[in-house]
Amino acid sequence: MGEAMTKKLIVFASGTGSNFEALADHFDRTKTAAILALVCDQPGAPVLAKAKRRGIPVIALNYRDYPDKAAAEAALIAHLPACDLIVLAGFMRIIGSTLLNAYPNRIINLHPALLPSFPGRTGIADAFNYGVKVTGVTVHYVDAGIDSGKIIAQAPVLIGEGTTLPELETAIHDVEHHLLPQTIEALIKEEKI
Ligand code: GAR
Repeated sequence: MGEAMTKKLIVFASGTGSNFEALADHFDRTKTAAILALVCDQPGAPVLAKAKRRGIPVIALNYRDYPDKAAAEAALIAHLPACDLIVLAGFMRIIGSTLLNAYPNRIINLHPALLPSFPGRTGIADAFNYGVKVTGVTVHYVDAGIDSGKIIAQAPVLIGEGTTLPELETAIHDVEHHLLPQTIEALIKEEKI
Protein backbone atom coordinates (compact mmCIF):
# COMPACT_ATOMS: atom_id res chain seq x y z
CA MET A 1 0.00 0.00 0.00
CA GLY A 2 0.92 3.65 -0.43
CA GLU A 3 4.34 4.69 0.82
CA ALA A 4 2.90 8.03 1.93
CA MET A 5 0.98 6.35 4.76
CA THR A 6 2.32 7.10 8.21
CA LYS A 7 3.09 3.82 10.00
CA LYS A 8 1.87 3.39 13.53
CA LEU A 9 4.42 2.41 16.18
CA ILE A 10 4.03 1.49 19.83
CA VAL A 11 7.24 1.75 21.85
CA PHE A 12 7.91 -0.32 25.00
CA ALA A 13 10.52 1.00 27.43
CA SER A 14 11.48 0.46 31.08
CA GLY A 15 14.05 3.10 31.99
CA THR A 16 15.80 6.21 30.74
CA GLY A 17 14.16 6.37 27.35
CA SER A 18 17.00 7.88 25.31
CA ASN A 19 16.06 5.55 22.45
CA PHE A 20 12.39 6.44 22.81
CA GLU A 21 13.43 10.09 22.48
CA ALA A 22 15.65 9.36 19.47
CA LEU A 23 12.76 7.58 17.75
CA ALA A 24 10.32 10.40 18.53
CA ASP A 25 12.80 13.03 17.25
CA HIS A 26 13.45 11.04 14.10
CA PHE A 27 9.83 10.42 13.17
CA ASP A 28 8.84 13.99 14.07
CA ARG A 29 11.19 14.93 11.23
CA THR A 30 10.41 12.27 8.64
CA LYS A 31 6.69 11.72 9.36
CA THR A 32 7.05 8.22 7.92
CA ALA A 33 5.85 6.82 11.24
CA ALA A 34 4.29 8.07 14.45
CA ILE A 35 4.52 6.78 18.01
CA LEU A 36 0.93 6.19 19.12
CA ALA A 37 1.76 5.18 22.68
CA LEU A 38 4.50 4.32 25.14
CA VAL A 39 4.12 1.13 27.17
CA CYS A 40 6.15 1.25 30.40
CA ASP A 41 6.40 -1.43 33.09
CA GLN A 42 8.29 0.67 35.67
CA PRO A 43 6.43 3.30 37.69
CA GLY A 44 8.63 6.39 37.94
CA ALA A 45 10.88 5.53 34.99
CA PRO A 46 12.39 8.67 33.41
CA VAL A 47 10.95 7.68 30.02
CA LEU A 48 7.46 8.51 31.37
CA ALA A 49 8.26 12.22 31.67
CA LYS A 50 9.74 12.20 28.18
CA ALA A 51 6.48 10.82 26.75
CA LYS A 52 4.35 13.26 28.70
CA ARG A 53 6.41 16.23 27.54
CA ARG A 54 5.77 15.15 23.96
CA GLY A 55 2.09 14.45 24.47
CA ILE A 56 2.53 10.76 23.66
CA PRO A 57 -0.02 8.66 25.60
CA VAL A 58 1.43 6.33 28.23
CA ILE A 59 0.09 2.86 28.94
CA ALA A 60 1.42 1.83 32.35
CA LEU A 61 1.70 -1.93 32.76
CA ASN A 62 2.30 -3.05 36.31
CA TYR A 63 2.86 -6.80 36.08
CA ARG A 64 2.27 -7.13 39.84
CA ASP A 65 -1.40 -6.29 39.29
CA TYR A 66 -1.86 -9.61 37.47
CA PRO A 67 -1.55 -13.27 38.48
CA ASP A 68 0.91 -14.04 35.68
CA LYS A 69 2.53 -12.72 32.52
CA ALA A 70 -0.22 -14.09 30.25
CA ALA A 71 -2.88 -12.18 32.20
CA ALA A 72 -0.81 -8.99 32.15
CA GLU A 73 -0.23 -9.29 28.40
CA ALA A 74 -3.91 -10.03 27.71
CA ALA A 75 -4.91 -6.90 29.62
CA LEU A 76 -2.30 -4.89 27.74
CA ILE A 77 -3.48 -6.12 24.34
CA ALA A 78 -6.98 -4.92 25.19
CA HIS A 79 -5.58 -1.40 25.68
CA LEU A 80 -3.23 -1.18 22.71
CA PRO A 81 -4.31 0.90 19.73
CA ALA A 82 -4.03 -0.77 16.31
CA CYS A 83 -0.40 -0.54 15.16
CA ASP A 84 2.00 -1.69 12.45
CA LEU A 85 4.98 -2.40 14.70
CA ILE A 86 5.86 -2.79 18.38
CA VAL A 87 9.37 -1.55 19.16
CA LEU A 88 11.12 -2.70 22.35
CA ALA A 89 13.55 0.14 23.10
CA GLY A 90 15.08 -0.67 26.46
CA PHE A 91 12.21 -2.89 27.63
CA MET A 92 13.67 -5.17 30.27
CA ARG A 93 11.18 -8.05 30.23
CA ILE A 94 10.81 -11.19 28.18
CA ILE A 95 7.77 -11.00 25.91
CA GLY A 96 5.42 -13.94 26.47
CA SER A 97 3.47 -16.07 24.02
CA THR A 98 0.24 -14.09 24.50
CA LEU A 99 1.77 -10.91 23.08
CA LEU A 100 3.91 -12.76 20.53
CA ASN A 101 0.90 -14.57 19.11
CA ALA A 102 -1.11 -11.35 18.89
CA TYR A 103 1.66 -9.60 16.90
CA PRO A 104 3.39 -12.23 14.75
CA ASN A 105 6.56 -10.77 13.17
CA ARG A 106 5.54 -7.33 14.32
CA ILE A 107 7.68 -6.98 17.46
CA ILE A 108 11.31 -5.88 17.18
CA ASN A 109 13.92 -5.41 19.90
CA LEU A 110 17.01 -3.26 20.31
CA HIS A 111 19.95 -5.05 21.95
CA PRO A 112 23.23 -3.41 23.01
CA ALA A 113 25.60 -6.13 21.75
CA LEU A 114 26.32 -8.09 18.58
CA LEU A 115 23.96 -11.06 18.97
CA PRO A 116 24.20 -13.98 19.31
CA SER A 117 27.00 -12.82 21.65
CA PHE A 118 26.04 -11.33 25.01
CA PRO A 119 22.23 -11.71 25.13
CA GLY A 120 20.31 -10.72 28.26
CA ARG A 121 20.01 -7.65 30.40
CA THR A 122 23.66 -6.57 30.69
CA GLY A 123 24.98 -6.89 27.15
CA ILE A 124 27.28 -3.84 27.26
CA ALA A 125 29.03 -4.80 30.50
CA ASP A 126 29.19 -8.48 29.53
CA ALA A 127 31.02 -7.65 26.29
CA PHE A 128 33.32 -5.20 28.10
CA ASN A 129 34.17 -7.66 30.89
CA TYR A 130 34.78 -10.49 28.42
CA GLY A 131 37.38 -8.33 26.75
CA VAL A 132 36.10 -8.43 23.17
CA LYS A 133 37.60 -5.81 20.87
CA VAL A 134 34.44 -5.35 18.81
CA THR A 135 30.91 -5.22 20.15
CA GLY A 136 27.92 -3.30 18.83
CA VAL A 137 24.19 -3.02 18.48
CA THR A 138 21.55 -5.41 17.10
CA VAL A 139 17.95 -4.92 16.01
CA HIS A 140 16.06 -8.21 15.73
CA TYR A 141 12.60 -9.71 15.56
CA VAL A 142 11.37 -10.97 18.91
CA ASP A 143 10.66 -14.68 19.25
CA ALA A 144 10.04 -16.94 22.25
CA GLY A 145 13.74 -17.10 23.20
CA ILE A 146 15.98 -14.54 24.88
CA ASP A 147 17.35 -12.16 22.22
CA SER A 148 17.25 -15.06 19.75
CA GLY A 149 14.96 -13.87 16.95
CA LYS A 150 15.96 -13.18 13.35
CA ILE A 151 18.50 -10.38 13.07
CA ILE A 152 17.41 -7.36 11.01
CA ALA A 153 20.37 -5.00 11.40
CA GLN A 154 23.67 -4.71 13.25
CA ALA A 155 26.34 -2.05 13.68
CA PRO A 156 29.81 -2.49 15.24
CA VAL A 157 31.43 -0.49 18.04
CA LEU A 158 35.18 -0.89 18.58
CA ILE A 159 36.56 -1.19 22.11
CA GLY A 160 39.93 0.51 22.12
CA GLU A 161 42.85 -0.12 24.55
CA GLY A 162 41.94 2.23 27.49
CA THR A 163 38.19 2.45 26.76
CA THR A 164 36.23 2.59 30.02
CA LEU A 165 32.83 1.02 30.57
CA PRO A 166 31.06 4.42 30.76
CA GLU A 167 32.76 5.42 27.48
CA LEU A 168 31.59 2.20 25.87
CA GLU A 169 28.04 2.77 27.12
CA THR A 170 28.01 6.22 25.55
CA ALA A 171 29.37 4.88 22.27
CA ILE A 172 26.76 2.08 22.18
CA HIS A 173 23.90 4.49 22.89
CA ASP A 174 25.10 6.87 20.15
CA VAL A 175 24.99 4.01 17.64
CA GLU A 176 21.60 2.80 18.92
CA HIS A 177 20.06 6.23 18.48
CA HIS A 178 20.79 6.02 14.76
CA LEU A 179 20.48 2.30 14.05
CA LEU A 180 16.99 1.83 15.50
CA PRO A 181 15.22 4.62 13.58
CA GLN A 182 17.16 3.77 10.41
CA THR A 183 16.17 0.12 10.68
CA ILE A 184 12.51 1.03 11.02
CA GLU A 185 12.84 3.38 8.04
CA ALA A 186 14.26 0.47 6.04
CA LEU A 187 11.40 -1.85 7.09
CA ILE A 188 8.94 0.82 5.93
CA LYS A 189 10.76 1.37 2.62
CA GLU A 190 10.93 -2.37 1.96
CA GLU A 191 7.20 -2.63 2.78
CA LYS A 192 7.91 -5.14 5.55
CA ILE A 193 5.55 -3.28 7.85
C1 GAR B 1 19.60 0.38 25.55
O1 GAR B 1 20.99 0.34 25.54
C2 GAR B 1 19.02 -0.91 25.03
O2 GAR B 1 19.79 -1.49 24.00
C3 GAR B 1 19.05 -1.76 26.27
O3 GAR B 1 18.62 -0.90 27.29
C4 GAR B 1 19.08 0.42 26.99
C5 GAR B 1 17.94 1.39 27.17
O4 GAR B 1 18.40 2.71 27.12
N1 GAR B 1 18.21 -2.92 26.15
C6 GAR B 1 18.52 -4.10 26.67
O5 GAR B 1 19.52 -4.30 27.33
C7 GAR B 1 17.51 -5.18 26.42
N2 GAR B 1 18.00 -6.43 26.87
P1 GAR B 1 17.34 3.90 26.98
O6 GAR B 1 16.27 3.68 28.04
O7 GAR B 1 18.12 5.15 27.24
O8 GAR B 1 16.76 3.85 25.60
